[in-house]
Amino acid sequence: MNDFVAYNPVKLFFGKNSIEKLPAELLKYGNKALILTGKGSVRKYGYFQEITNLLSQSGIEYVEYSGIKPNPVVEDAEKAVELAKQENIDMIIALGGGSVIDTAKLVSIAYPSGQNVWKLMKRTSEPIKNVPLFVVLTLAATGTEMNAAAVLQNHQTQEKIGLFHPLMYPKASFLNPNYTLSVPKNQTINGIIDLIAHSLEAYFADGNAPLSDRLAVANILEAMDYAPALLKNLHNYELRSRMMWNATIAENGTTMHGRSVTGDWGTHALAHHISLLWDTPHGQTLSIVFPAWMKVLKNEISQRILNLGKLLTGNEKISIEETINIFEEFFRSIDAPLSMEAIGLGEKKHKEKLLKLWKKNKPTGLHIQLNDKHYEKIIELI
Ligand code: NZQ
Ligand code: ZN
Repeated sequence: MNDFVAYNPVKLFFGKNSIEKLPAELLKYGNKALILTGKGSVRKYGYFQEITNLLSQSGIEYVEYSGIKPNPVVEDAEKAVELAKQENIDMIIALGGGSVIDTAKLVSIAYPSGQNVWKLMKRTSEPIKNVPLFVVLTLAATGTEMNAAAVLQNHQTQEKIGLFHPLMYPKASFLNPNYTLSVPKNQTINGIIDLIAHSLEAYFADGNAPLSDRLAVANILEAMDYAPALLKNLHNYELRSRMMWNATIAENGTTMHGRSVTGDWGTHALAHHISLLWDTPHGQTLSIVFPAWMKVLKNEISQRILNLGKLLTGNEKISIEETINIFEEFFRSIDAPLSMEAIGLGEKKHKEKLLKLWKKNKPTGLHIQLNDKHYEKIIELI
């Protein structure tokens, strides 16, 4: 095992009554909050009203910045920083899914320091301070509620990139599975793909860490176990609870200890370019890219793929192809796309555009290095 530091300061409140604890946590830091929200689901389903009632009852003032889009853009983060300055807020509440939360993370470090959001993303300007960030999660998928990562898009520079910095850990996150009962089937599928992809990214990092291997595989098996029932019963609290915790665990460090990096992340880096070009939901980009990435790298990481197959099935004689097929079959069974064609982007011009951007931006893994030859082979398979 590699040396590691285990550190996750996020206080997590989970369950039906978790939201009631929000005001007391907020009052430790001030009495005026900026609430960030997305395109309207939180008002449509009453979560915004429930949260703001709790704030009002506790004498906490709030202002809202709404309209953050899926695959969030740097412009929204900058506008929200401006609002935070005008209103002189004490803390931030992100109420939504990964896009809202990631934007809020950037606002929480850019607002108190006056630093430029994109310079922070590019690490040409290092984070120096933050205001407290609180999360009320409405969509189980990214795990951002319990980590220090944020992903933003910049259409001017043609980049979708991530930033990890300890100053972006939320102070506390509130996970009420009831808030995810309204997530539609397609976004539920996307969330399942994402948490499986996170488990695989952790697994494919370097270093010998058998317990982390098993924890990553446990996450994958858990998702494969509840997914068929959940997709037939979207309003089932128990199944939503399982998914919500599963998604958090897949991306909060639990599966990553004992390796030199937190995960490989090459597949995410490739997949982000599909979202950047066509605004494709994050989960869909991953079910398209991950099996192809494994096929192209199968000789370079044959032992790791074989070990994954053994851990997943208990079959000592499983082959590389059979292992990759487990994922393809599962993705197919939940109606996740496996090709660009399946999301209406199967023409030659689409693939050429994607390949060109890959060759320009050179997405790669933290462990497994990708080059133009890999891109050319992957594009053939997706
Ligand atoms: O905008 P609203 O109206 O809120 O609707 C959203 C959006 O359309 C809707 N939604 C959210 N909660 C709902 C709901 N609809 C009904 N009921 C609810 N309770 O779902 C749609 C998608 O929301 P979004 O936040 O974009 O989804 P997700 O949580 O999958 O976040 C995706 C973003 O997170 C990044 C992705 O790249 C993408 O930009 N990621 C962040 C990571 C991190 N910070 O650790 C890791 C991930 O790998 C990922 O890259
Ligand atoms: Zn992801």
